[in-house]
Formats: sequence, C-alpha cells, structure tokens
Amino acid sequence: MPPTPRRAFVLAAAAMLALASLPSCSSGKAAAKHKGTPEDPFLIGMSQCNLGEPWRVQMNADVEAAAARHPELKVIFKDAQNDSLTQRAHVEELVAQGIDLLIISPKEAAPLTQPVADAHKKGIPVIVLDRAVEGDDFTTFIGADNKKIGREAGRWAARALGGKGKIVELKGLMTSTPAQDRHAGFREGLDLAANKDLQVVFEADMQWLEPNARKEMESALTTQKEIDLVYAHNDPGTHGAYLAAKEAGREKTIKFIGIDALPHEGVQYVKQGLLDATFAYPTGGSEAVAHALKLLRDEKREKVDKKLVLGTRLYTRDNVARGGEELR
Ligand code: FRU
Repeated sequence: MPPTPRRAFVLAAAAMLALASLPSCSSGKAAAKHKGTPEDPFLIGMSQCNLGEPWRVQMNADVEAAAARHPELKVIFKDAQNDSLTQRAHVEELVAQGIDLLIISPKEAAPLTQPVADAHKKGIPVIVLDRAVEGDDFTTFIGADNKKIGREAGRWAARALGGKGKIVELKGLMTSTPAQDRHAGFREGLDLAANKDLQVVFEADMQWLEPNARKEMESALTTQKEIDLVYAHNDPGTHGAYLAAKEAGREKTIKFIGIDALPHEGVQYVKQGLLDATFAYPTGGSEAVAHALKLLRDEKREKVDKKLVLGTRLYTRDNVARGGEELR
C-alpha cells in the first residue's frame, strides 16, 4: 500500500529523529566546535614534520594561501623540526586546543599512527598529507603516487643508460612511506632481472637531507671507480650528490635524477644543467584546504574519498623550457 502523504511525513520525521539520536562521536563525525564564520572561523591544525626543506616551506605556503581565500577558516601551524616525538606532542596539543580538523604531514608512519587515530576517534576529521601513517584510522589521505614516480624514474634511468651502467640510489628516510615507495617503484622500473647490464653499486639512507646525501655520495665516489647515474629520492639529495661529484671532478660523466621539481629548486637545477631529470611531487596543500572545507561544511561526510591521488610531471633538459610533460 503506498504511504499517504501524512504517513510519509511521519516516517521521514521518525527517520530523522533516529539519525539525530545516533552518537555523534563515531570516527570523524563530531560537530565542529566553531561556526565557520569570519567571527568564529573553523580552526584547522596543521602539523608539519619539518620546515628544513624548501618543499615543506612550499607546502605550508600552499595551505596558507588557500586558507587565506576563506575568512571562515583559521589555521594553526606547528613545525615538529624533524622529530616524531615532538610531532606526536603537537597533534595532542592541537586536539586539546579544540581544533575542528587536523591536517598532518607526518615524519614517520609508525610513531604518528596512534596520535592520528586518537584524534580521529574523538570525532576530528583528519587529512593525512604526502607521507602516510599505518592502517586507516583517519579521514582522507592526499598525495602523489610515489610508487609510480619511482617506477618512472627507474624506466627513465634504464633508458638514459641504454640498458647498461652503474647506479647509486640515495634513499629518503626509509621509515617514511614515500621513501619505501620510491625505492620499490624504482627497482620495478629498472627491472634488473631483465636488464642484466644495469647494476646498483651503492645505496644508502640519506633521510631526505642534502648534507647526508653529500656525505654518502663522497663514500660512493671513493669506493666506486665507475658511477653512471645517481637517483636520489628528493632534489635536495640529488643536489648534495651533484656537489660531491663536482668536488671529485666527476660530475660530467654522471647523470643525476631527483624528485620534487619545485620551480625554484629542482626545475632550476635542470635548467642550469646540474640535474638531468626531476619528477614533480605536488605538495597537496591547496587540495587539503579544499577538502577540509568540504568536510567541515558537510557534517555527515557520507561521500568522502579515502584517498586523493595527485599527478606528476617529468622535467628533463629537453622539455624543461616547455614546462615539462605530464605523466599519465
Ligand atoms: C621534504 C621531503 C621532500 C620529499 C617529501 C617526501 O621533507 O623530503 O623533498 O619529496 O619530503 O615526503
């Protein structure tokens, strides 16, 4: 029997009452504490793992610029200065301060997993940016596909060497997910099983840091008579390796590839002829703010993507003047 209009109204009202009486503290679904007006803006906590590299300074600048277009948002920035325990404490402080949403770019996966999950369990939506945590106790992950970038770097290296040569790999911090993925992807792209004349002769964890990369490359240069290509997991690392090679007078016989491709860093290095190639790694800062706004405005958050994958571009000496090329 089709419901009469009155019966339909009663049913709808009952359904709404039932929804409203659901506990509001289920993961990521508590009501925001602020109204989201210019007078009472939504409060976003932005936990940054460090501001030592230009790329992270750019990420914060991207978040700030995007948020500045929305007077209904206020962002509190924290810089953990490359220390996971400090970052843990920052997340707890931000939660205690009454933030409505957390954006975090964690230094390492394992130590930040629990504080992120705790914030999320309290009903605070959490956007994890660029480096992942373990499990899935957060709202959304935003970042580029590091495995794919690594794979493209591996293929590029194999091609650039004509399938023959000795390679140095300087890895990012291997307790952070981009380093793990950039490493695994690179090895896939190199395909050492099929390319028998390619060899990785030296590898080290430079923890994303240029001075470490420079030191590791000095060791590589001392122990290896032949090095044909260096792949570092970020442009600061590649730059450090380049400086070491230059000091040893060997930079002209080595190809250098990196990742990040900031306009004022990696892309400049390619233009100057220091690097042979770099792959763009978007910061995701503006996407995080756009996503935060959606989450804050729609309290039911029914159709939230768990993952937002950002694209990449390849810059080489051949295409850098044209603005690089998109990799699909
Ligand atoms: C900066 C950085 C970038 C790199 C990213 C990976 O700290 O090392 O250079 O692309 O982090 O998370």
